[in-house]
Amino acid sequence: MRTTPHPRTSRPHLRSVSITGVGSYVPQRILTNAELERMVETTDEWITSRTGIRERRIAASDEATSDLATAAARRALTAAGITAADLDLIIVATITPDMMFPSTACLVQQKIGAVRAAAFDLEAACSGFVYALDVGAHFVQSHTYNTVLVIGAEKMSSVVDWQDRNTCVLFGDGAGAAVLQNRPKAHGLLTTCLGSDGGKAKLLELPAGGSAVPATVESVAGRLHYLRMDGKETFKSAVTAMVSAANEALGRCGLTVDQVRCIIPHQANLRILTAVAERLGATDEQLFVNVDRYGNTSAASVAIALDEAVTQGRVVRGDLVLLVVFGAGLTWGAAVIEW
Ligand code: ACO
Repeated sequence: MRTTPHPRTSRPHLRSVSITGVGSYVPQRILTNAELERMVETTDEWITSRTGIRERRIAASDEATSDLATAAARRALTAAGITAADLDLIIVATITPDMMFPSTACLVQQKIGAVRAAAFDLEAACSGFVYALDVGAHFVQSHTYNTVLVIGAEKMSSVVDWQDRNTCVLFGDGAGAAVLQNRPKAHGLLTTCLGSDGGKAKLLELPAGGSAVPATVESVAGRLHYLRMDGKETFKSAVTAMVSAANEALGRCGLTVDQVRCIIPHQANLRILTAVAERLGATDEQLFVNVDRYGNTSAASVAIALDEAVTQGRVVRGDLVLLVVFGAGLTWGAAVIEW
């Protein structure tokens, strides 16, 4: 299998980090393309052919990001066979926190009763889950903490402009979670590589509500509290960055793509997924796709997909898994896991 030991696990003072349980949650309400046809000037044919998305989930009005995260967290804890009291740290990756502060992670900490855990949010848009995985893994690897819960959770429906057909057809709500622990004699997370390019920040942004443009009557009237995206440029950057991150991560582990059982890319658009797979030389069987059912759930995307891949038996112990992500920032990243 691997030809070279990875630096993460080959240094004697560091210990390996495994994902010992995953879980996900999506809201019950399904929004179909047919319903979107009645909301903006679009067609099921346009959405399906340009994006591969057929439906997405929408959270209830009284369901916040912390509620989605909490449901996914509980399932991951059960899968790992631990309780919330075992947690040392909770990291929530999100761009749709319940509020500016306190952090969504602190709200989750209270909701699940993780009485011993520290908690913070991490913001790397759609790349958030892989960023959080990397940050969380370092705490376990360095012996700082034994048990870390990493969550990607989004209520994208709260920041989507439902009058903008360019973006409103793309996004959905959901959450996915993973428990990180040292599993003796397992390699676990082999590598992560992360990247960013703030020079392209304008491609995808939510302009108002922060310190640069605080909320005013004018900012609301100008629809500045909704996300905006240059779809074409984002598309091109996404393919280039994801292919490069995936190749770098595989290269660091001395692996070739054919050795990977399952490739789980950020579920932004089916055309992006197939372009990335083609350029990596991956087969359809290796590629995991659920964008048709959930759309783009940002930081929750690969976390939900990983849980589904495990549940469906597409990933079993010992398999190599490649996560590859891309999002606003710009940000990107990849992770190789020996399951
Ligand atoms: N229905 C019908 N027509 C539409 C719709 C719609 N929902 N949306 C746009 N159009 C129109 C446009 O107005 C345009 O019309 P025009 O030619 O008259 O101006 C036409 O369709 C073509 O638009 P394009 O932008 O060229 O369409 P494209 O093939 O690029 O697809 C899409 C657009 C789906 C947004 C694509 O560019 C994409 O997926 N981009 C990447 C998005 C992404 O990956 N984001 C990831 C990060 S997300 C995060 O971090 C939160």
